[in-house]
Amino acid sequence: MPALLVYPQTTPLRGRVSIPGDKSISHRAIMLGSIAQGTSHIRRWLPAGDTLATLRAMQSLGVLIHLHETEPTAWELTIEGQGMALAGAEGNEEELSPLVINAQNSKLETRNSKLNLRHAGTGIRLLAGLMAGQKFPSVLDGSEQLRRRPMGRIVTPLRQMGANITATDGRAPLFIEPAPLHGIELFMQIASAQVKSAVLLAGLYAEGETIIHEAGPSRDHTERLLAAMGADVQTHGRTVILRPGSPLQAVDLTVPADISSAAFLLVAAACLPHSHLTLNHIGLNPTRTGLLDILGQMGAHIQGENPHLTGGEPVSDLTIRFNELHSTTIAGETVVRAIDEMPIWAVATSQAAGISTVREAGELRVKEVDRIAVLAGELRKMGVNISEQADGFTVTGPTRLNGAEVDSHDDHRLGMSLAIAALLADTPTHIHQAGCIADSFPGFVETMQQVGAKMTWLN
Ligand code: S3P
Repeated sequence: MPALLVYPQTTPLRGRVSIPGDKSISHRAIMLGSIAQGTSHIRRWLPAGDTLATLRAMQSLGVLIHLHETEPTAWELTIEGQGMALAGAEGNEEELSPLVINAQNSKLETRNSKLNLRHAGTGIRLLAGLMAGQKFPSVLDGSEQLRRRPMGRIVTPLRQMGANITATDGRAPLFIEPAPLHGIELFMQIASAQVKSAVLLAGLYAEGETIIHEAGPSRDHTERLLAAMGADVQTHGRTVILRPGSPLQAVDLTVPADISSAAFLLVAAACLPHSHLTLNHIGLNPTRTGLLDILGQMGAHIQGENPHLTGGEPVSDLTIRFNELHSTTIAGETVVRAIDEMPIWAVATSQAAGISTVREAGELRVKEVDRIAVLAGELRKMGVNISEQADGFTVTGPTRLNGAEVDSHDDHRLGMSLAIAALLADTPTHIHQAGCIADSFPGFVETMQQVGAKMTWLN
């Protein structure tokens, strides 16, 4: 896997750029478009490692998906929805490297669809809910990294719904056999959109209503897209109620740019003197904007312009100007609303005056890697004063960072966080295993170069 060489940034970052589409929404658009009635059109869909794994899985289940590579990092898709009952096919166990649209692949009869979701946690967990409702068996699996992540959190509620699903020591591969499903009332113990969404997707196939009481404000893209497609889904405070029976209608959707990808440019501009960036069409779903609130508390200047809605999601252009940052403490709901931004926030805190702490963020330990331990270990190599707690970390700043040999540990958000830290260092940094950045942000390096950063791939 290629390494990334990043040079110290001696000039401000400037310009207006587009960021690739939202990963969470891109996964959901593929899955829900596949089981809708009619043809869905998805614009600015994200062709990243994770979302392509979901796309290939749905193609291999017989769903016809036409790809128009309008821009390298923003595709247009046409999905021929099959309705709720998928045909099932041979699965994509082998790497299907060239994406093939194969009309004959449609409606294949199969006994056992084996699906490879690679690194995609959202892909495997949401698809488990969807496959639990199908009339054919399936096996859901992924990379070694995905096989280390906990699956009990979806297996337990899906079993309560009647699903015949078995994990392997609480992890992937997941084995699913057809079984009749019924609605449940679920009191969630962790704030997880993946668990909530798996249960909602299974709920579409269940007899009776499904009621979910959330533990925290996890992202609600599934609810919004389901509602936009005609499902009977209602949210009252922290409770989501789904009544099955209304068939999903095809959707015409422009995917907002991913705020979790925009976060890397926002933090870079917040930390590099005289920087001034505008990022186009950023999704500002309130369940995702924790980092904007946190950076605001720390003194960053961020402004939204041109607000509008797409597919039930609020979107705005965001402008950020450099300003001195000061420390802050975060916990609770703010953490849930910024869970994927904690690694890049750690980089911001290294430049902020004072002691910054995050607590109640134990979920970071079960992401692509243990994002508390690995982040602390790699950032320390660059001179960051960071200490670990069981459920968070503490950073004392500001610190002048040093260049180093660091490693992403095959975690895309850690790779990009290290790249932004490297811009703040006084000597060049090598980031090993950086190819994984394309799991969520294809074109990251080109986008950074466009705003004046100096970084280059090494083979
Ligand atoms: C996601 C939910 C979050 C998030 C992940 C994407 C989603 O995970 O960290 O990157 O698309 O539903 P959890 O549901 O485990 O909190």
